[in-house]
Amino acid sequence: MTTLGIETSCDETACGIVDEGLNVLANAVYSQVDTHALYGGVVPEIAARAHLEKISPIVQQALSMANLNIQQIDRIAFTRGPGLLGALLVGAAFAKSLARYLDKPLIGIHHLEGHLGTAYLTEPNLKPPFVCLVVSGGHTEFCRVNENFQYIMLGKTRDDAAGEAFDKTGKILGLGYPAGPLLAKLAENGNRDFIPLPKALDQKGSLEFSFSGLKTAVLRYTQTQNSDFLKANLPSICASIESAIVEILVKKALSALKQNDLHTLAVVGGVSANKYLRQRMTEELGKRGMRAVFPPAALSGDNGAMIAAMAQKRANENAFHSELTVSPSLAWTIAAL
Ligand code: KG4
Ligand code: ZN
Repeated sequence: MTTLGIETSCDETACGIVDEGLNVLANAVYSQVDTHALYGGVVPEIAARAHLEKISPIVQQALSMANLNIQQIDRIAFTRGPGLLGALLVGAAFAKSLARYLDKPLIGIHHLEGHLGTAYLTEPNLKPPFVCLVVSGGHTEFCRVNENFQYIMLGKTRDDAAGEAFDKTGKILGLGYPAGPLLAKLAENGNRDFIPLPKALDQKGSLEFSFSGLKTAVLRYTQTQNSDFLKANLPSICASIESAIVEILVKKALSALKQNDLHTLAVVGGVSANKYLRQRMTEELGKRGMRAVFPPAALSGDNGAMIAAMAQKRANENAFHSELTVSPSLAWTIAAL
């Protein structure tokens, strides 16, 4: 049994293939990042057009990587939402046509449930209940993962996502796009206590985030310093920002686990590639007899293998209905699955 998964919700055109045991047979990703870098952010119309250009070669690349032909695929999965409408429509239309042509089942997967799929790819025996922290460019939220694909939303950001906080503060500092990984690289050689920054909604027990205050604080700080000083201290400014974001994620993760009387946290989404987050989360949970599961960095960002994995897992547990009329859903919460 093989499942092919298509991901086109934002600016990665991706296709992955997994087998019944959740082994990744292929993971082909075309990143549009260089195209959008010219505009300093994702331009929805350009993303949709690029998906249309790349979707067919990327699916072919995944099949070649897996050494399979299309007839050997048993199930087609695609990201149904949330995401950019034009971008989602390309993946949905392609997946539907493929399923129809092959006469194989089709399954629409929630993008965040797809990210959760990377935890199962990392640890196929991972058993609910556990807490999942999704940290990406569009989302920062805790959910409790129960048996039978039941999700309870525990708390999310009121404004910017953690990835956005990295990207927007990095943009203020003049870093390229997306600034998150660049800021993290510079932070490696900086002093983490260089500037005091606000911690997002640091109230006891709250599992909600707010990162917009951090962005404003960094903007104000840069306006009060001269450019030579900012340049000379860039690594320490980046390290202070990274710490402010990471420490609040760690603190709230501990609260989420304690409140739910659980010991395992899956951290998924683009920001889960952040090395300092991995280090601090592992340290602090470890001290308390808890543990964090992180996907390999190559599976942290958007990819098709995660969509295929979640569809395959649902199929293994008889938890989906094939539906050829399914269409993209933009404002879709994981708690409603
Ligand atoms: O999950 P993802 O690929 O796309 C969304 O669904 O949003 O996440 C992309 C986000 C971007 O904001 C990017 O800057 C951030 O993940 N990111 C990082 C790192 N790698 C990617 N942020 C901090 N440190 C990193 N190493
Ligand atoms: Zn994502």
